[in-house]
Amino acid sequence: MKLARRYGKLHLGGAYKVITALNSFHGRTLAMTAATGQRKFQEPYTPLPDGFVNVEYNNVDAIKKVTAPDVCAVMLEPIQGEGGVNIPGENYLREVRAWCDKKGLLLILDEIQTGICRIGTLFGYEQFGVEPDIITLAKGLGGGIPIGAFLAKEKASVFAQGEHGSTFGGNPLACAAGYATLKFILENDIPSKVKRSGTYLTAQLNKLKAKYDFITEVRGRGLLAAIQFNSDLTDRIVKSCMEQGLLLNPVKPNAIRFMPPLIVTRKEIDEAIGILDKALAEA
Ligand SMILES: Cc1ncc(COP(=O)(O)O)c(C=O)c1O
Repeated sequence: MKLARRYGKLHLGGAYKVITALNSFHGRTLAMTAATGQRKFQEPYTPLPDGFVNVEYNNVDAIKKVTAPDVCAVMLEPIQGEGGVNIPGENYLREVRAWCDKKGLLLILDEIQTGICRIGTLFGYEQFGVEPDIITLAKGLGGGIPIGAFLAKEKASVFAQGEHGSTFGGNPLACAAGYATLKFILENDIPSKVKRSGTYLTAQLNKLKAKYDFITEVRGRGLLAAIQFNSDLTDRIVKSCMEQGLLLNPVKPNAIRFMPPLIVTRKEIDEAIGILDKALAEA
């Protein structure tokens, strides 16, 4: 956000607002609470910092409608993770990219969840035919060691020395973990493995959908998947799975998210599906 604001000051006449999507999730700092388009994360902290406009996801016209001279960037998740694994239409990101180019806005992709192979390519954007000007990364980047990073194209690399810093930024431990993680991922072709195990996971979830009519949808790309129910069954099912040793993520009262380790095996997926099947049967 600071980089986008610097860009706005330097190149867009002081424009500072960032358009983000409803149902998004961008983190828990105060500014990112305002960027995150979900009331439940915002309400406890109002009044929120100025400078964010939340509009409907997967709707380029909604972005066009709120684009004004004070807007400097659009920030989106290539797939909304925390919002329930919402996969946009085929052309959405391409259309947003074209709009940003037309209006001179930066396109920021928050790949903290979709990046580092989670959806089967090193970066999620590779699957949508666009390149962002700024990308955020974390989660998978350190293989469990806390690390966050953002990358910017030359055009958007507008920080002058001293304009940004962080106590732990660039610390050797986290950077060594990030380096080792990426080396392992690239040397062991983890993207292909994630594509294969993701296809398997989604197929197994679809078998459960065929078995239980209260499962209304299975959504997924790579190893980021969700099942949706026709009522608020999440808590009961997640609790029952947890009691049997399977940790699932209750993203919505009626949707569960699956984010297994990138090195998950078929045997482990089978074990998880077996536990889930039992929990669904008792739901
Ligand atoms: C897309 C996305 N952005 C950012 C974050 C970072 O959140 P936090 O600030 O809570 O670490 C997350 C965490 O789930 C995320 O999914």
